[in-house]
Formats: sequence, structure tokens, C-alpha cells
Amino acid sequence: MSANQALTIALSKGRILEETLPLLERAGVVPLEDPAKTRKLIIETSRPDVNIVVVRATDVPTYVQHGAAALGVAGKDVLMEHGGAGLYEPLDLGIARCRLMLAGRPEHRPGEERLRIATKFVNIAQRYFAAQGRQVEIIKLYGSMELAPLVGLADYIVDLVDTGNTLKANGLAPLELIAHISSRLVVNKAAMKMQHARIQQLIKALRPAVAPAP
Ligand code: ADP
Ligand code: PRP
Ligand code: MG
Repeated sequence: MSANQALTIALSKGRILEETLPLLERAGVVPLEDPAKTRKLIIETSRPDVNIVVVRATDVPTYVQHGAAALGVAGKDVLMEHGGAGLYEPLDLGIARCRLMLAGRPEHRPGEERLRIATKFVNIAQRYFAAQGRQVEIIKLYGSMELAPLVGLADYIVDLVDTGNTLKANGLAPLELIAHISSRLVVNKAAMKMQHARIQQLIKALRPAVAPAP
């Protein structure tokens, strides 16, 4: 990593890409190809010293932590689950807002055994219940968590809720708020030292593009 090396920003397809591109554009960074369409994974931008790489949302902290990307945009949920080692989190971008919640069937009365919690946020769920001294069994899933209580796989789920439509469509109700979520700019700690001026300039350019908290 040298002071003159191009800055790489790791983004994920879907809502983070869609909502981050307008912010980057206001900071003068425009991809030369449409990242949502191209099959290329490294995309050059209008700024020759800035590239975008497109990775899975849950992989963003890994790329940034290891310095494969100097910067990234990741949901607070993903950052809480991954842990913050090697990362700075200098800017709340205020995009992809939602809530991390415990949810379940309103009429469900769990038995005496440990509660079974289905989630992809295994670490967050473990910490949340341990802090309250509640004994739980965590069942790891990779998606469609809302199905688990319907088919008897789990008593409750820990998942993201925005409009609440997915819960409602499946006869589930939000029960406990675990965390308010939005996406954050993350920066590799070593890159922040080595490429300080350029990274600070980018953060400074992004800051006014960020909508104030509601
Ligand atoms: P994935 O394929 O990993 O589910 P998403 O694009 O759905 O990726 O989610 C990326 C991030 O956007 C999540 O980490 C979370 O912070 C946020 N997010 C997820 N679902 C919603 C939603 N329904 N509404 C708003 N933000 C969301
Ligand atoms: C997310 C999340 C919930 C849903 C909540 O899923 O995992 O299922 O959105 O949003 P709502 O409260 O507005 O209904 P997403 O759409 O990202 O689907 P996927 O991650 O399973 O692909
Ligand atoms: Mg999703």
C-alpha cells in the first residue's frame, strides 16, 4: 500500500450500490460502467485514482480489514456481526436504514426448553441474549428467516425489518428492537495512515451528500 496507489472502494450489489452511487457522484466519483449491469468486478471511475469493487455485502468488512479495499460501505448489521478489527467507521451514510429486530408469531407461547432463534446474525444474537442472561439455541440460516417460525424450525427470528411488510405477509410481528441500522463508510486503518490526504478528501466530499438523521 503506497501513498499514490489508487483508492479502492468495496460496495455490494443491491440497495447499497444503488444508494451509494448518488453520494459518490456528488463527491465527484462516477463509475465508467454501470456496476449493477457489468460482469466486471473492478470498475474504474471518473477519477483515475479511485476504483470500485463489487463484492457480497457480508464480505465488505473482510476486504477492507485486509486492505484489499481501502474503503467500503457496509450495513451496521454486517459490521456488528463481523466485528470492527482493523476498521475505522468515520461516516454514517444514512442509507439502507432499517432495524434489527427479534420477531415471531404473536400467538406463539414457547415451551420450557431453550428458545430457538433462527438468524444469519449469529454473533449479534448470541451477544444480545447473553447480555440479558437468556438461554437460547441459535440456528444459523442464510436468508428467508421469516420462514423458520412458520415451519417449526425456530421459536423466533432475529432479522432486519424496514416496512414490516415481510413480517406481516408471513403472520409475524416485531417483538424487540435490537439496533437501529444504516450503512457506514469503513476505512482500513493502515490505509487511513498511508493515504491520509486522499481518504480525508473523499470523506470530506461525501459528508455534505449525506442526509441528516430523521
Ligand atoms: P444481502 O444480499 O446481504 O441481503 P442487501 O442488499 O439485502 O444484501 O442488504 C445490504 C444491507 O442493507 C444490509 O446489511 C442492511 O444494512 C441493509 N438492508 C437490508 N435489508 C433492508 C431493507 N429491507 N430495508 C433497508 N435496508 C436494508
Ligand atoms: C430484507 C430482510 C427482510 C426484509 C425486510 O430482505 O432480510 O426479509 O428485507 O424488509 P421489509 O420490512 O420492508 O419487508 P431482502 O429484501 O434484502 O431479501 P434477501 O436479503 O433475502 O435477498
Ligand atoms: Mg437482503
